[in-house]
Amino acid sequence: MLMLKPHFKVNARGHLVIGGCDAVELAERFGTPLYVVDEQRVRENYRRFHRAFVERWPSVLVCYALKANSNLAVCKVLQSEGAGAEVSSGNELQNALKVGIQGERMVFNGNYKTIPELELAVINNVLINIDNFQELETVAQVALHVGKKARIGFRVNPDIKTPTHPYIATGLRESKFGFDVASGQALDAYKRASRMKNIEVVGIQAHIGSQILDAAPFEEEAKRLMALVAEIKDRLGIYLQFIDLGGGLGTPYTPEERELPPEQVAERVVKVIEKSVEEKGLPTPTLILEPGRYIIADASVLLARVGHTKHRPGVPDWVAVDAGMNALIRPALYGAYHHIEIANRITEENSKLFNVAGPLCESGDFLGKRRKLPPVEPGDLAVIFDVGAYGLAMSSQHTAKPRPAMVLVNSGKAELVRGRETYEDLIHLDRIPSWLE
Ligand code: LLP
Repeated sequence: MLMLKPHFKVNARGHLVIGGCDAVELAERFGTPLYVVDEQRVRENYRRFHRAFVERWPSVLVCYALKANSNLAVCKVLQSEGAGAEVSSGNELQNALKVGIQGERMVFNGNYKTIPELELAVINNVLINIDNFQELETVAQVALHVGKKARIGFRVNPDIKTPTHPYIATGLRESKFGFDVASGQALDAYKRASRMKNIEVVGIQAHIGSQILDAAPFEEEAKRLMALVAEIKDRLGIYLQFIDLGGGLGTPYTPEERELPPEQVAERVVKVIEKSVEEKGLPTPTLILEPGRYIIADASVLLARVGHTKHRPGVPDWVAVDAGMNALIRPALYGAYHHIEIANRITEENSKLFNVAGPLCESGDFLGKRRKLPPVEPGDLAVIFDVGAYGLAMSSQHTAKPRPAMVLVNSGKAELVRGRETYEDLIHLDRIPSWLE
């Protein structure tokens, strides 16, 4: 058995307990595959992250990155904690509005925002981080059309190497995001925007990557951003009110990985900002952070029913569970590790090696390879850890499997917050054309 994080317990029946609920009972009551989100853990993660920065800097806005998990109940929990929102689509923006997050406490990012999405953002006073020169023109037109000034910042690309999977490293020069800093492109963007009528230039933003467990890249990011902020002030006389360092703080997925305390990141970036504000005589900016994974990843598990096992001479046995890459694509897509245990045998020794397969017709459809588990039997309940971020959010209906349901648990209470899709849900948008009827 692994060292469980403190928000998990084991009960007298030897079952995993999350949010005061027995995982085996949750699976019986709500079916599998099932995402389970621990409300208290979401709150704890948010509070710890928020506190780390607020204790060190006078003006902080933590915008939860909805892309990690935009379920309305999750958003509502974070809204009740006072979080702002980082949105990357009009629909995420609508979700944030729906749970009561004000537009002024949102940032809108992305390298391709549509006109209706931009309209929604301008109408709601959302801070838009512009990604390219053409988008700047579009936003100006949208603002004119809406009859409102657009609050904008620029997404800049500080060219920083991050120790993470190449698919989720976004701060490198060749990445598709933002304005290049080194060549003067970013400065040029500020210059152009400062001459535009319906544009209010208020911020600067970067996001260097995701699943980062080292504070150094964040410190470097802060240095490069502050150097640019000072240059923008000196050369253009623009004082930026918002410094947005993006998201990216990782969570330990493997038993060997160590957490990167948010306090450590806050300490190092705040020092950089403080120094630069003092030296360059800048007004105190509001620091924006956009954490997704840190807030929600370890607050959720996926429960999956074991169907059968299969012996293969000389290699690990297979165990097939009812959640595969349709329910959780991270192992197949990034080779990501998610720890797996058997929820109804949590106290038993993990003595046997298994490959854990999903139910889909692809060899890539696995949740883990070479995992030690107790001698698993049909009907057991597998639990996959740390799936709260980009789990359900990236799930699909591959092989016409309905997406999993999700429950929120807190102090022994459990309530469905995302229903299980039905066959009707799967086909209700399909049509057979008239000539085939
Ligand atoms: N802000 C921006 C502009 C972003 O692009 C992202 C994530 C975040 C904030 C939140 O980053 P976080 O704190 O969650 O690391 N699907 C991948 C992760 C992609 C992250 C994309 N951007 C995965 O499953 O690992």
